[in-house]
Amino acid sequence: MRNTRSTQLLFDLSKPGRRAARLPECDVPLASLQELLPSEVLALAPPPLPEIAELELVRHFTNLSTQNMSVDTHFYPLGSCTMKYNPKRNERLASLPGLLDVHPYQHDSTIQGLLALLWELERMLGEISGLPAVCLQPAAGAHGELTALLVAAAHFRTLGQKRAKVLTPDSAHGTNPASASMAGFDTVTVKSTPAGFVDMEDLSAKLDENTAVFMITNPNTLGMFDRQIAEIARRVHEVGGLIYLDGANMNAILGITRPGDFGADMMHFNPHKTFSGPHGGGGPGAGPIAVTAALAPYLPVPVIVREGDKYRLNYDGAISIGRVRSFFGNVGVLVRAYCYIRTHGPEGLKRVSENAVLNANYLLSKVKHIFPVPQGDRCMHEFVASGQKLKTDRGVSAMDVAKRLLDYGFHAPTVYFPPIVREAMMIEPTETETKETLDAFAETLFRICEEPADLLHEAPHTTSISRPDEVRAARQPVLAWTGTK
Ligand SMILES: Cc1ncc(COP(=O)(O)O)c(C=O)c1O
Repeated sequence: MRNTRSTQLLFDLSKPGRRAARLPECDVPLASLQELLPSEVLALAPPPLPEIAELELVRHFTNLSTQNMSVDTHFYPLGSCTMKYNPKRNERLASLPGLLDVHPYQHDSTIQGLLALLWELERMLGEISGLPAVCLQPAAGAHGELTALLVAAAHFRTLGQKRAKVLTPDSAHGTNPASASMAGFDTVTVKSTPAGFVDMEDLSAKLDENTAVFMITNPNTLGMFDRQIAEIARRVHEVGGLIYLDGANMNAILGITRPGDFGADMMHFNPHKTFSGPHGGGGPGAGPIAVTAALAPYLPVPVIVREGDKYRLNYDGAISIGRVRSFFGNVGVLVRAYCYIRTHGPEGLKRVSENAVLNANYLLSKVKHIFPVPQGDRCMHEFVASGQKLKTDRGVSAMDVAKRLLDYGFHAPTVYFPPIVREAMMIEPTETETKETLDAFAETLFRICEEPADLLHEAPHTTSISRPDEVRAARQPVLAWTGTK
């Protein structure tokens, strides 16, 4: 049954005289607004606000909230940009008054605890990445990419070298070439082999003295760890270039290997998927970066400095690229990441990755009989299955399957990415899901494959909107306010 509850606007629900709150009669003399405010700032009439009783109001917003999918309510096997379950404990700790009520203009001497926490987080991320200099400012993974590329550009400027090219593999997340363009570089795509790894011949053909950075995601977006990474780093370094490691998939290798150890010069973390914290689409998220000691002087200011047992924010940085975010970034998100890392500790973080990889492999082994996984029988934290056979045999697309999953209460996986897999369905269960949930998801996929094609083409059947034009919905949202009619 389609969920059409509460799709009316508050204005449509409005009835004159209804109220959610009634204030007692005022017991002090009332002055008229005309006496209190100059006439030019007064509106001609009260605004046409909706008039609604409390219960109607509560139902309206509660019902609206049921139309969203969230990790707290549904299995969310979205690959690549996955936001995994955020433990409630971290939400509670980030809401402690000493952290939540801090004002960004407070003097350093009054926020010593918070500065100590952020300083320690920098050291922890340095240790996890094997790259000692950390900047917590960027507000999202893509923002971290841009920041690091600006650091690279500053580094080459200091060396007096003009390097215009950034290389990215064809399996790269779209933000990689986009960040490179924003940082003023030309982007060049490097091919992957059919097995999903960097094509070394193509890499060598495209590497030259004009190459500034090779951006690589490892494990990559196919869920494969590219074991050629040390050789890739050697070749890039040989021509004087830098390796940027897109660390979105660090949740597969925590405590097992470190980007700094396998040749990376710079990287970003995606805390929403590796630790905990919201994925704010560039909003209230975070994308800390870590770089080698040699690149540290270019990092954005302010930098937290520890002097004895005191901390302060240092705004001097002769060759820093400057600020990339107001104040110190999204501190609340960083606090959640800190809590997550401290809660698990080194051994616990390793277990997180082992379980993320185990869950993904369990699901892969179930799903592959119906949706083949072209890149192999084993994966890291996620895998990319192909719906091509279903498309050829029955005309049912990966999009149809993804949409139908919504009817069964599962969030859809990422589809059609990376583009090198036909009818791609990228699935990432994360370590927090139970075997029962993974079994139920696999069984639902099997069931969908047996359903009539016509039913699947029209799916979803239970959501309030079925198949909007996704590009128009994002670019030209209809935000009508009927209160002004
Ligand atoms: C591989 C990869 N790189 C980069 C990003 C960009 O990160 P963000 O969405 O935080 O900007 C993502 C998304 O999470 C990703 O999956």
